[in-house]
Amino acid sequence: MHTEDFKIYKSDDFLDPSHRNLVNKAREASQTSYSPYSNFQVGAALILDDGQVITGSNQENASYPAGLCAERVALFYVASQQPDRVIKAIATVAKRRDEDHFIPVSPCGICRQVLLEYELKQKSPIQVILQSQQGEWVVTRNSKILLPFCFERDHL
Ligand code: THU
Repeated sequence: MHTEDFKIYKSDDFLDPSHRNLVNKAREASQTSYSPYSNFQVGAALILDDGQVITGSNQENASYPAGLCAERVALFYVASQQPDRVIKAIATVAKRRDEDHFIPVSPCGICRQVLLEYELKQKSPIQVILQSQQGEWVVTRNSKILLPFCFERDHL
């Protein structure tokens, strides 16, 4: 990974306005999290090439593996409802149900794989906005940098 693969900001105040807006929309979306098992409320927000913002929240199930991460709820919604739009960026946030403040979170490996798939499909980068464990905000150049040595469709 090269340093130019991502930018680091000391706080969300320093993000580009459109990225800061995405973080705020993701925070709102976390309120619809259905997470009675983990009590971990995740929100995701992505912005499309026409400026639309689409959000998702994690949805859990008594059959645990049936649940879905916030990122994939939003990504699959776009892929199924507006498949010809280009996804420009996605932000993810999280909080514990019994706490007021948001905590750092990073898209899981499966969501990274799904992001990569759509990035390759649309032939245009999807930036990922997340808060690192150090509390700084990270904006990646694309999704691929989150999956070194990745498996992709051309390998089939
Ligand atoms: N989760 C997400 O929604 N996105 C992430 O990036 C990390 C994990 C969800 C899945 C599950 O509902 C809960 O957080 C705990 O893993």
